[in-house]
Amino acid sequence: MQALSAALTTEGYDVFASNVPVDAVLILSALMNDDAVSRHWNTLEAARTAKATARRIITLQSAHIPSGLDGLSRTLRKEWPQTEVFSWTLPEDRMQWTDLVLHALRSGYGDGLLTVEGQLLVPVTRDLVTPSAPPARQPGVWLVTGGARGVTAACAVSLAAAAGGTILLAGRTAETPWLDDLPETRDLKTLRGLLAARPREPGTRLSPADIDRHARALLAGAEIRDTLAAIRDTGAQAEYLVMDAGDAASVEPCITRAQARHGQITGLVHGAGVLADRYADEKTEAEVRHVFAPKVAGLENLLRHLDSAQLSHVALFSSAAAFFGNRGQSDYAMANALLTNAAHQIAARATGIRIKVFHWGPWAGGMVDTSLASHFEAQGIPLIPVEEGARIFATELLAGDPDQIELVVGEAWAAS
Ligand SMILES: NC(=O)c1ccc[n+]([C@@H]2O[C@H](COP(=O)([O-])OP(=O)(O)OC[C@H]3O[C@@H](n4cnc5c(N)ncnc54)[C@H](OP(=O)(O)O)[C@@H]3O)[C@@H](O)[C@H]2O)c1
Repeated sequence: MQALSAALTTEGYDVFASNVPVDAVLILSALMNDDAVSRHWNTLEAARTAKATARRIITLQSAHIPSGLDGLSRTLRKEWPQTEVFSWTLPEDRMQWTDLVLHALRSGYGDGLLTVEGQLLVPVTRDLVTPSAPPARQPGVWLVTGGARGVTAACAVSLAAAAGGTILLAGRTAETPWLDDLPETRDLKTLRGLLAARPREPGTRLSPADIDRHARALLAGAEIRDTLAAIRDTGAQAEYLVMDAGDAASVEPCITRAQARHGQITGLVHGAGVLADRYADEKTEAEVRHVFAPKVAGLENLLRHLDSAQLSHVALFSSAAAFFGNRGQSDYAMANALLTNAAHQIAARATGIRIKVFHWGPWAGGMVDTSLASHFEAQGIPLIPVEEGARIFATELLAGDPDQIELVVGEAWAAS
């Protein structure tokens, strides 16, 4: 082994053993000029390899390109308690990077943004200070992705009540009409029973899976109409747009048509999101792509087709998983951390836009189903009541401190 190393070194090769313990591994994948998913996926894969030998893993990202490796390091520290994982955000000036990284290594810095002076800035959030006066009405044209269903729907209704104007709800799901002969219900089990008992053409058979699919489509259509009705009850206008935020070809025509009908969009609420939970050791690239699509590609697509000069408000739905890290949610934490870093860039570029990132703790609704709810309750993490979360959302967006971009809503998470 040593003779082979010596011979290769003589030939001009750099020789190192990949299986000996090392103090620190720096991962530079996110500094490459790749698309967002590749940069994050390659970093996660490299971190998995480095874990076998490294005591410390440090991932590097640039303040210039929105990235979410801070969400990854917070999650990996929880999933890999034996390894120290940090993320450093480097300033825009590449000429300084080498000196800064060496300085940060010598200083033993944890997560944060390295300033050109070599200081480490760490994100802080302040406690919510509820504004003393209720928000003034701020009618405009609001686009709310994910706003027809889930917890964002409750936020859209609360926004409509407080702000007025026109609320455009966007989601992928078609608005399936209710069947005339079906009694109204919002209970999946009851609806499956009603569908199974409906008279059918002789010779036609429906499998339980067909019935379940049909029942879910009917309930989704009903949820969309319930949200539209609740918004109209506040006096605001409402419309539902079938739009896949992650698909550029879907976003552009949808926004163009909506603006032709209602005028320029002045407020963006980006609530679209999906989960694909799995520990980082087993996470696949397809899962990272799935989770990044609505949030990350979604924000890019929306901002590309909205006129930023017309925007007065932007609200991005993130998760406490991005701020504290959460086992099984490395992709979701990265995507939400990326949204957060993008928000800071938007705020730095565009004065006059009130921008808020909500790092939500778990709600008593939406993607928190009964099994997730009991998991959080077992950890002593209380769920955010839907009405309370929706009220906080509208109040903070419309009347909160304009300099406070990030808000953690809910209790701090246990370190598990
Ligand atoms: N619930 C919580 O406890 C919690 C906690 C932290 C953060 N959040 C954040 O809050 C947001 C809403 O979560 P939720 O709990 O309400 O989830 P949910 O019940 O699963 O609803 C997700 C919403 O996003 C929409 N959506 C998903 N992919 C989309 C796409 N590609 N284009 C357009 N719309 C899309 C869905 O509509 P379609 O299916 O019709 O597309 C649906 O309205 C998410 O961003 C989530 O990360 C929620």
